[in-house]
Amino acid sequence: MAAERGLAMATCTAPVNIAVIKYWGKRDTDLILPINSSLSVTLHQDQLRTTTTAAASRDFTEDRLWLNGKEADVGHPRVQACLREVRRLARKRRGAGEDAAALSLSCKVHIASENNFPTAAGLASSAAGYACLVSALARLYGLEEELSEVARRGSGSACRSMFGGFVQWQRGERPDGSDSLALQVAPETHWPELRVLVLVVSGEKKPVGSTAGMQTSVETSPLLKHRAEVVVPERLAQMMRHIQERDFEGFGQLAMRDSNQFHATCLDTFPPIFYLTDVSRHIIALAHRYNAHHGHTKVAYTFDAGPNAVVFALADAVAEFVEVLRRSFPPAANGDEFVRGLPVGSAALPQELLAAVVTEPLPGAVRYILHTKPGPGPQLVDDPSQHLLGADGLPRSRA
Ligand code: DP6
Repeated sequence: MAAERGLAMATCTAPVNIAVIKYWGKRDTDLILPINSSLSVTLHQDQLRTTTTAAASRDFTEDRLWLNGKEADVGHPRVQACLREVRRLARKRRGAGEDAAALSLSCKVHIASENNFPTAAGLASSAAGYACLVSALARLYGLEEELSEVARRGSGSACRSMFGGFVQWQRGERPDGSDSLALQVAPETHWPELRVLVLVVSGEKKPVGSTAGMQTSVETSPLLKHRAEVVVPERLAQMMRHIQERDFEGFGQLAMRDSNQFHATCLDTFPPIFYLTDVSRHIIALAHRYNAHHGHTKVAYTFDAGPNAVVFALADAVAEFVEVLRRSFPPAANGDEFVRGLPVGSAALPQELLAAVVTEPLPGAVRYILHTKPGPGPQLVDDPSQHLLGADGLPRSRA
């Protein structure tokens, strides 16, 4: 927290996460308590991150929020829930004899948040956004405790973005949600060879948001009920073992099966919800042909509530699979970089692989590929020149 002339300010960054055992369905929509536990991989912030600055000053007359430079509704119930919870914890702390946060607590806050990726691209921006909001507010108010329970109130999946590496969100049992928390299963350094390719297939907004979609699924899908009660508890234990043992075969198989079952529950919802598109299905079939050609699991896909694919692979498989993608989805010549993020080496594809795997190319169907890997949890940004708010408490003009 930086305090100058009655202005206190803190900036944090937070990551996106991708679930390999999916969360879908709430047992309490207000507290955001899930019907099943879930498990995710936190992606590296060098490629995908949200940055948030929170500031408090006696001069501010109201709480205000800016998202990607535009003023947004600070009265949004989920933003309010996070603000209220952080302030409640800070007050509790002050009651216990801490007075460092006294200034900020009596003041209104200004919050500015930005993603370094297109918000509409369907890349789980709400998880990174709420994890970052809670992290920045916690810094501002001098809180040091684990705050996944607060991030959960913003968006369920956001609680998993409060940690790096491999993260479980345990369902919890208590009605007040105090045991519905995220826990780190293994740090990002645990599996150094693991890589992630995000295949962005569409910039369109999803037809049914996850919040509304999962509620309809809870109300109408018998498959979802079976999944939460029977399938997920077994899968979660298996997935933890595969991660501990760095067993890509087991990890990849289960990630694909769990993604497929999540989308099956969407089809089992009434009226049904479709997040996968023809391009998504093309990617699924391609991954299976590629693995079949090699005789084992080299790549594993997973899809959230949208058509973009997230593909896991080990580092030594990336160059070849990216070349397969380039041949399967020849990039439109729009000058945009097709492969972004971590560098990808070149690979020559043997003729038999091409013949077996690249069957019907779809030019332009994949807009770009982002190459990344598991990464750490939220970070404090020390450099004051990185604050998104200026000394007047308003968003800095963006270059
Ligand atoms: C398909 O966390 O976006 O990405 O709790 O209503 O904000 P709310 O939903 P959200 O749902 C994410 C669903 C998912 C699977 C997952 O991330 O586990």
